[in-house]
Amino acid sequence: MALSTTRQQPPIPHPATAKWWSKDTVAIVTGANKGIGYALVKQFAKLGLTVVLTARDRSKGLDAMDSLKALGLDHNVSFCQLDISNRASISSFVSWFRSRFESFDILVNNAAVSFNAMGENSIDYADTVIKTNYYGSKQFTEAMLPHFRLSASVARVLNISSRLGTLDKLKNRKMKAILGDRERLSEDQIETVVSVFLQDVAEGRWKTAGWPEIWTDYSVSKIALNAYSQILARRYEGVVSVNCFCPGFTQTTMTDGKGNHSADDAAEMAAAIALLPPRCLTTGKFYTGSTARGMISKL
Ligand SMILES: NC(=O)c1ccc[n+]([C@@H]2O[C@H](COP(=O)([O-])OP(=O)(O)OC[C@H]3O[C@@H](n4cnc5c(N)ncnc54)[C@H](OP(=O)(O)O)[C@@H]3O)[C@@H](O)[C@H]2O)c1
Repeated sequence: MALSTTRQQPPIPHPATAKWWSKDTVAIVTGANKGIGYALVKQFAKLGLTVVLTARDRSKGLDAMDSLKALGLDHNVSFCQLDISNRASISSFVSWFRSRFESFDILVNNAAVSFNAMGENSIDYADTVIKTNYYGSKQFTEAMLPHFRLSASVARVLNISSRLGTLDKLKNRKMKAILGDRERLSEDQIETVVSVFLQDVAEGRWKTAGWPEIWTDYSVSKIALNAYSQILARRYEGVVSVNCFCPGFTQTTMTDGKGNHSADDAAEMAAAIALLPPRCLTTGKFYTGSTARGMISKL
């Protein structure tokens, strides 16, 4: 049940004041050639982690590496091409990763697409949106799970999600009941919800079937990602922490540069959540906001 227990939290510690990691702590960030992903790689690099910057477009990824170099932040950053919507690309990434690293500690699933400008709501690319934002992040997570350095206090997945993907945006009662039944929620059920949505799109029913009203396909993709995160958090409780984070309205390409704050601001908060000290590490939570006093709720 999304956001049913929202409450104000004590401030999330600034990572620099609660450092528990070393340069051997490895973080992977998807979709990191620009926007929040790139800003997060900068944060991690500044804080002294080893980072893997990934981008679906090799030349954009290398440009991002050049920018990091210009900032003097490239020493512990490696680049590998990764298109999360392409299984062959995920396999190549895993081979590359295994040839260079034994394991990793932090996975940030940041990559996502939206084909809508602000104020628009077209579903022309609904298949791609679902394939990237939900299935892509899920497939990549599954491919990387065996390579986590398993440690209850360290291993973390942070899924960059959105408030547009909270269950209150879904008015379709049947779909909402499926996703809201936390005890019985399964991957098959998420798949059912997503398939029904794509069928409603294909058959022209999507506007009247109770799907979210803003950026509908993107919202459904994030609803599915949140639900999957819930399942992962339950399955790996005590082994891997799994949380979601909505960065809020952020000035990036996705929002045509509009927003209440910069990608650097959003990444600062994302880094603080990804690097929560072991003593306050959470799992199955949904964080929102761009300040250290962000909101937190159950997924
Ligand atoms: N900006 C906001 O207001 C806002 C609000 C809530 C949530 N979010 C979330 O924050 C995250 C980052 O978004 P952003 O605002 O930084 O957007 P952005 O600037 O558009 O960046 C998105 C990144 O994802 C990459 N990407 C897209 N499809 C990919 C794929 N198949 N494989 C690998 N990488 C792929 C893009 O690569 P290309 O450069 O090649 O396209 C780009 O690097 C997303 O999960 C988004 O949903 C953003």
